[in-house]
Amino acid sequence: MNSTRRITSTAAIAASVLLAGGLAGCSGGGDGGEGGGDGGGLKDSYTVVTDTAFVPFEFQEEEGGDYVGFDIDIVYGIAERVGFEIEHENTNFDGIIPGLQTGTFDIAIAGMTITDERKEAVDFTSPYYKSGLRIGVAEDDDSITSIDDLEGKTIATRLGSTSADYIENNIEGATANTYEQLDQAYLAVEGGGADAVLYDAPNVEYYILTAGEGKLKTVGELIEAQDYGIAVAQGNEELVTAMNEALAEMIDDGTYSEIFEKWFGEEPEWLEELAASQES
Ligand code: ARG
Repeated sequence: MNSTRRITSTAAIAASVLLAGGLAGCSGGGDGGEGGGDGGGLKDSYTVVTDTAFVPFEFQEEEGGDYVGFDIDIVYGIAERVGFEIEHENTNFDGIIPGLQTGTFDIAIAGMTITDERKEAVDFTSPYYKSGLRIGVAEDDDSITSIDDLEGKTIATRLGSTSADYIENNIEGATANTYEQLDQAYLAVEGGGADAVLYDAPNVEYYILTAGEGKLKTVGELIEAQDYGIAVAQGNEELVTAMNEALAEMIDDGTYSEIFEKWFGEEPEWLEELAASQES
């Protein structure tokens, strides 16, 4: 979708949907968006994988085990517009890309950062969330106040995450303690087994507002701007185009902001920037 769409009227939305359909046609036969259209190579149902240990993007409800979170609402909004059913799958984060590559899963929505390295393995939609990394330390720790203080320290994070890469490549002399479940990383800091946790800012912030209240605090600035994208196995242009159209539509018609407010309690401050980074 082009970057300057600021849709305010129903007529304009209709026009933009037509435009989106036209553009998709040019780029190799996308299915025109709303309602699924004639489908082309699109399927009626896709397996959607996530790793549910990532509040508030994806987690499972204690009672009943339903999948809930920001990502889940986003992918349902997309599925409704493109016209497919969702079959949920859950796996460890580091198993997501291999699972897409082998065809075990069709679509992954998991707060997954779009990186050049991952783009060599899978295809991504346009960005659907603007993120970054944040440092968390024990609440009574005054020795770490910025990223510079992490040199030579033991830093807990998630196995296979962009934070693990960041620690390895950017923080001198630091040891990355990587865990398969991020809760263990937070507990390591709380228990003194690690000096700090480095992880996605919204997750660290959410944890500190909830389970980690009074135990951890964030310090320093937001580190390394990152965009989250939805991933699919390479060679699924039609599906990516259809999902991009749906996402752009959700951003334009306010659905995106509604979902964002539900999970984060406010409007995203970077909505215009996100809208500008959509393409299809
Ligand atoms: N954004 C980070 C990455 O892509 C962490 C994502 C973790 N997501 C999850 N569902 N556990 O590496």
